[in-house]
Amino acid sequence: MSEPAKIHGFTEEELMEVDPVVLRAILHERTHHTIEVMMYRIMVGKLGISKSFGDTAERLIDIWKARGLPTDAPDIQWCLNYVGFARMLRTGGELDLGTELPEPFTEDEMKTVDKLIYGRRSIRQFRDEPVPDEMIDKILHAGLYAPHGCNVGCTRYLILRDPVEWKLVRSDIPIENCVMIVVLQDMRMYKALKFDEYVPQNLYYDAAAAADHICLMAHALGLGGCWLTHGEETQRRLREHFGLHEEIVSRNHIIVGWSDEAPIKSQRMKLEEAILNR
Ligand SMILES: Cc1cc2nc3c(=O)[nH]c(=O)nc-3n(C[C@H](O)[C@H](O)[C@H](O)COP(=O)(O)O)c2cc1C
Repeated sequence: MSEPAKIHGFTEEELMEVDPVVLRAILHERTHHTIEVMMYRIMVGKLGISKSFGDTAERLIDIWKARGLPTDAPDIQWCLNYVGFARMLRTGGELDLGTELPEPFTEDEMKTVDKLIYGRRSIRQFRDEPVPDEMIDKILHAGLYAPHGCNVGCTRYLILRDPVEWKLVRSDIPIENCVMIVVLQDMRMYKALKFDEYVPQNLYYDAAAAADHICLMAHALGLGGCWLTHGEETQRRLREHFGLHEEIVSRNHIIVGWSDEAPIKSQRMKLEEAILNR
């Protein structure tokens, strides 16, 4: 009997021992690439189905369960569902997902989208009024739902309300009366998949996409926000202050609060100038 193939360089024995964070990254990525990305092409007959379709993600889910790790989180449920879909297709069953094709927004909905995208502007001064935790949670949740490379799920946050903690983070503007959201990433997940070697740019894209969703949701809630950048010194200070794992790295921070300024929205160049091939 041949040994089962390694998954991302790990044997099954090793996967039984690795940090659950690493196993979760591999499970996300394998479910995404070996089932999700292929399944919809298989369903319309553009791609044949192999006998082993979904096997790798199923092995990973089995390991996850064998380790007694919880399966109730939405990301794990999502993996479980795909493993089930793959098994169904592999055994000749029919899948009815009940999903629908995207439709254009109505005129009214488009007004809201325009308000969201073109009405957002960077706000750098805030009133001394508390921002409820529920609003911050809504904002952070939107950040988690931003696109991210290979569906790995490395985004983490710090919520800084204390002015002493704001000082840990280098900012080029005065920080007052706001909540500072720091976007961080768990490098253990990226490293398990060798992102840092093969697609290092994706780390920054992931953090940027999260920050953009954060700014948009803050705007939709009537809050102001401004995306700010920091460097390695801040990363080190945050890690030390909060006792973070050495592989947790901060990337950017966004200040949000009740606006105390109404700046003119900055304008961009004409679209024709930005399109290079028309
Ligand atoms: C990657 C990035 C870094 C930024 N860094 C800063 C910063 O350090 N300080 C600041 O005041 N604004 C910062 N901003 C906000 C930009 O200045 C702002 O988005 C830009 O001027 C356009 O204005 P608008 O956001 O009002 O459309 C940053 C934005 C991005 C996307």
